[in-house]
Amino acid sequence: MSEANVGSLLEKEDGVEHRDDPAVRIAALELQLEHAQKLTALGELAGTTTHEFNNVLMTVINYAKMGLRHKDDATRQKAFEKILAAATRASKITGTILGVAKNRKNRLEPTDLTGLVEDTLLLLEREMNKYRIAVEKIFRPVPEVMAEGNRIQQVILNLLINARQAMPDGGRLALKIDYDAESDMVDLVVRDFGCGIPKERLPRIFEPYFSTKSGPDESGKGGTGLGLALCKRVIEEHYGRIRVDSALGKGTAFTLKLPVARRTGPAC
Ligand SMILES: Nc1ncnc2c1ncn2[C@@H]1O[C@H](COP(=O)(O)OP(=O)(O)O)[C@@H](O)[C@H]1O
Ligand SMILES: [Mg+2]
Repeated sequence: MSEANVGSLLEKEDGVEHRDDPAVRIAALELQLEHAQKLTALGELAGTTTHEFNNVLMTVINYAKMGLRHKDDATRQKAFEKILAAATRASKITGTILGVAKNRKNRLEPTDLTGLVEDTLLLLEREMNKYRIAVEKIFRPVPEVMAEGNRIQQVILNLLINARQAMPDGGRLALKIDYDAESDMVDLVVRDFGCGIPKERLPRIFEPYFSTKSGPDESGKGGTGLGLALCKRVIEEHYGRIRVDSALGKGTAFTLKLPVARRTGPAC
């Protein structure tokens, strides 16, 4: 959405401003919210990636220096191997973010949810290590879901960052993917064993701008209160569901449900 879109909503066709009409006002605010949500999601992705890239670059620089300093073949060989491994990781990260590797489209298409979760974890691998978070995965074989890969990746990223931020002293993050035959949907459960959410706060967490964080953390994430609002909207636009279960002091589990992709056979 652009500023122009908001502006045009506030004008009548004959060019007369229409700001006093509550319906127009609400529509304009909704567009602004969507814009802010997109910027936040992009910011979190950029924050994660910049950090990861810096780490990779430090490795490349340090091993290049080592190779230049030492003239023997064995050390140089090792330096080249480390540089190659780091650069390969960097290119995987770019592929993951841009959806290039998977050729992801900006529309609903049959999507491998497990692959999306793995890609997102790859982006957060070092961050999880840094905060001493052990990631446990129980991924059962599941059918493809109908999804817009890049947007679902933003949802997963937000849930994982929230979970990490709920465990400032480290802990466990349990991820589960399974098929639910009753609803014919694929479930992704993101469970942390962190601070939990008080009962009276639960109804508010999906509201735009609701946040209990004082601002972004040292890696620039969280604090806008737009993450879960975006998750809810994206999942609803996928005809899916999102629910939360939480116990104060014990942890929180978010469950995403996404409809299975049904491939229609060729017409004959
Ligand atoms: N895994 C979690 N554990 C505890 N609280 C959470 C968790 N996820 C979300 N919350 C609560 O919901 C609020 C809104 O989350 P979100 O929309 O992502 O915004 P933000 O992360 O910017 O605060 C958070 O500020 C926090 O209070
Ligand atoms: Mg968040």
